[in-house]
Amino acid sequence: MQRLFSGIQPTGIPQLGNYLGAIRNWVALQQDHECIFCLVDMHAITTWQDPKVLRQQTLAQTAVLLASGIDVQRHILFNQSAVSAHARLGWIFNCVARIGWLNRMTQFKDKAGKDREKHSAGLYVYPDLMAADILAYKATVVPVGDDQKQHLELTNDIAQKFNHDYGVEFFPQVEALIPPQGARVMSLRDGSKKMSKSDPSAQSRIEMTDDADTIALKIKRAKSDSEPLPSEVAGLENRPEARNLVTIYATLSGTTIADVLGQFGGQGFGPFKTALTDVVVNAISPIASETERLLKEPGFLCDTLRDGARRAGAIAEPIVSEAETLVGF
Ligand code: ADP
Ligand code: NA
Repeated sequence: MQRLFSGIQPTGIPQLGNYLGAIRNWVALQQDHECIFCLVDMHAITTWQDPKVLRQQTLAQTAVLLASGIDVQRHILFNQSAVSAHARLGWIFNCVARIGWLNRMTQFKDKAGKDREKHSAGLYVYPDLMAADILAYKATVVPVGDDQKQHLELTNDIAQKFNHDYGVEFFPQVEALIPPQGARVMSLRDGSKKMSKSDPSAQSRIEMTDDADTIALKIKRAKSDSEPLPSEVAGLENRPEARNLVTIYATLSGTTIADVLGQFGGQGFGPFKTALTDVVVNAISPIASETERLLKEPGFLCDTLRDGARRAGAIAEPIVSEAETLVGF
């Protein structure tokens, strides 16, 4: 069985993009992989996080992941800061990666914007830590959304340079598993931006704990255009908002974009948005109610993370110790 690693930042309640681009696939991949799922709190603090809120959100995300079907009997779920191997290997990788490589990372450019000198140094070296997250377990399969593709290429560059510099085939190459559909869910308010839990506007995303009325309202207000839906996929060109809503519908209902357009093509957004609301509510409601139940058991959630950290550490510790020996520590 191949070892799989994936992470999510505890910076808010997971949104529909996290679910379609990552979490839903994690649940399916549990079937035939040895999985390690990580709440990356060390990544989260690359931008300011209120300590109380961060702690609370780490538990809330644990609840959402368990409610979504992550199986902690057979797989591992933990928070990054609880296993020190991540920080230690992350430092080694800061010294392996070249500044020129990091300068090419588009996510840093997107997040930092024009004011790049005012951001934390952590935000800049984030991809090095991400490489450490994966390679501390010698994981080879990494299911992610489209936005992480470049970071995984960097992970492979780091692994290769480490192996070359220290003269051993130590770290494996990793494979990004990007879903064919739903890998880049866009904001409901702006079809040019990805849906994100860190977007200041909660109207831009559907959160996994939203109730049916909230979902209905967000979809009703979602940006669209004044044309009817096209009957052919080609008709979605230059209509990012329409494409996004149709993609969400298709991905959640397990059909293709062409099928959805076959059904709704020629109609206005009104009836389509009503149908989309039903599909989203059906997917989210059971997860939201199970999350609510689990949130009443913070002790259980803490124990789950603690147990996960112990099991994760048992895998990472010998690998990272060996990397440290190779470096000369
Ligand atoms: P966010 O941007 O919401 O804070 P994270 O950085 O925590 O998300 O990413 C967690 C996982 O969710 C990653 O695998 C990422 O690729 C995926 N993901 C994040 N946003 C989206 C999106 N809009 N569409 C599809 N996948 C996404
Ligand atoms: Na992100």
